[in-house]
Amino acid sequence: MNNVIFIMGVSGCGKSSIGQLLSQRLKIPFFDGDDFHPQSNIDKMSSGKPLNDEDRHEWLVTLNELAKQQLPKNSCVIACSALKKKYRDLLSTEIKNQVKWVHLSGSFNQIIERINRRENHFMPADLLQSQFDALEIPEHALEVNISMQPEEIVNKIVETIEMKSEFGLFGLGVMGKSLSRNLAQKGFAISLFNREVKGIEEDVAVNFKNNHKELETAQPFSDIKAFVNSLQTPRRIMLMVNAGKITDSVIEDLIPHLTEGDILIDGGNSNYLKTKERYDYLKAKNIHFIGVGVSGGEEGALKGPSIMPGGNKEIYNLVKPYLESIAAKDAKNLPCCTYIGEEGSGHFVKMVHNGIEYVEMQLLAEVYSILKLAGNNPDKIATILESWKSKADSYLLGITVDILRKKEGDDWLVNKIVDKAGNKGTGNWTTIATAELGAPSTLIASALFARYTSFYKEERLLASENYDIQPSVINLDVEAVLDAYQFARIINHFQGLKLISEAGKAYGWNLNLSELARIWTNGCIIKSDFMAELIDVLKKDDNILKHQTIINQLKLLKPSINKVVAQCVLSELAVPCLSDAVHFFNSYTTANSSANIIQAQRDYFGAHTYQRNDDASGKFHHTNWQH
Ligand code: 6PG
Repeated sequence: MNNVIFIMGVSGCGKSSIGQLLSQRLKIPFFDGDDFHPQSNIDKMSSGKPLNDEDRHEWLVTLNELAKQQLPKNSCVIACSALKKKYRDLLSTEIKNQVKWVHLSGSFNQIIERINRRENHFMPADLLQSQFDALEIPEHALEVNISMQPEEIVNKIVETIEMKSEFGLFGLGVMGKSLSRNLAQKGFAISLFNREVKGIEEDVAVNFKNNHKELETAQPFSDIKAFVNSLQTPRRIMLMVNAGKITDSVIEDLIPHLTEGDILIDGGNSNYLKTKERYDYLKAKNIHFIGVGVSGGEEGALKGPSIMPGGNKEIYNLVKPYLESIAAKDAKNLPCCTYIGEEGSGHFVKMVHNGIEYVEMQLLAEVYSILKLAGNNPDKIATILESWKSKADSYLLGITVDILRKKEGDDWLVNKIVDKAGNKGTGNWTTIATAELGAPSTLIASALFARYTSFYKEERLLASENYDIQPSVINLDVEAVLDAYQFARIINHFQGLKLISEAGKAYGWNLNLSELARIWTNGCIIKSDFMAELIDVLKKDDNILKHQTIINQLKLLKPSINKVVAQCVLSELAVPCLSDAVHFFNSYTTANSSANIIQAQRDYFGAHTYQRNDDASGKFHHTNWQH
């Protein structure tokens, strides 16, 4: 396919000479944009007046026409300052997919020195400054610094436009496909890979490309070597394959084709400890590895996920423009993607994200069971939950409303779904991590174990007969249930964030929890109004329970959750996460707990010693309890 290469930049950056050199190298025509100004512009410029947007319009249309005439015959190079985005939009009208931008960039001082060094050239500083002021840096241009030798600049441009892709996507499952389309929609040149398994996965990449207009220029592969060779160096390859052994085998398949400095980005839900191992393993081969948490499901991946990258910061910077472009945007239009920290920190926070997600889901399930026991059908429950949006809106609340409204024939679909909740392991890992790090995320463990208990369906059926437990009708006002739900959500967020903060300390990651809350305000499964509130709360302290607004909220909500949990217990209704929220809070706010008894017992049978309230030295004591 023919291309127009626009060489752009402020006056004096060397557009014409680089453009000429490039056209000689590629043996394609060169056009200097300055030669196409209408007479009126030439007159205006010669009288020393700068051109305005209106003056430039006709000129840009002419250059666009020129490009359109050239394209059917050949590729070409056009030098044109194209300082503003709207100029570039005009220049690429109707030929967007065939336009390549090269931005020759340099600092003000670099450029003014160059111009003034040239004989018979002098540019007043304020004229150049006005060009810098007008310059809107292009998002998708090949940026080349003019400090390099012209020869090097041309080499770099040639390598890029040899149609090598700038980003590779390995694995075209649901998430890989959505991310690829997202990247292509942002204008990136991408290569796609999917394995070929006879009769099961055939021509996946080619068919996928052919089915989506935005993938017109994407390069599809089922051969690893060809895929790797289609990428610019250092290669950036994002792995979207199943976490676990498959990730390792894919890395092994890729290694022989990679060269030093290439970057592998693992976008799966990988275990953070494995990410650290893979990082070290590849480091020894001079291959970089970035572990990236990606949240948002299929739709998020396509329209903008929340992205949590971890690894070496300098290497992250080489993939940052891609990840930030495809990420969701927060309320201030900033990308929901931020560098998390070293090693497996990106995957760690994604894992805890999922732990928080498990609890948010379980709490909604518990609320559903309370409202159901109170005599409401799914439609009525949906209406109640919908009315909560003004106080407790979240993505998960929203989808639960939709789910409850879905009917199949005369009945609601939820009534037909078997009550066995599955999982893919991240809740399990979070629970292991919380135990290992000594940070009690009790709600995450409860939500996980609630799923595990649900899986004992046959045993539950038998036990319900053996024990004949019949939940009795519950009588609770809806406001109290909402308060209880909100109370437990605050505890959930406190526990999840506390776990992340403890991990940060234990592993020496320098984590910014407020930034984390910010990138969780959009694109991800746990986005909510409360998450947005936490951005400021976390600026003060990682422990959200110390914050006065949270203290006020919990004090206000506590009587309701006490009532709701007590009533559920009396009505024989299991609400593990709601009750754990109460018990955790009561323990956490107890100044003098019963742990003295535990210490005494430990000392009794194992001489584990104890500290005394009446000995401020902190010394450990032992008692011979039987004498
Ligand atoms: C997300 C989700 C996503 C997925 C997990 C959790 O953030 O987009 O967390 O990663 O839903 O696989 O799944 P399980 O419930 O199956 O453990």
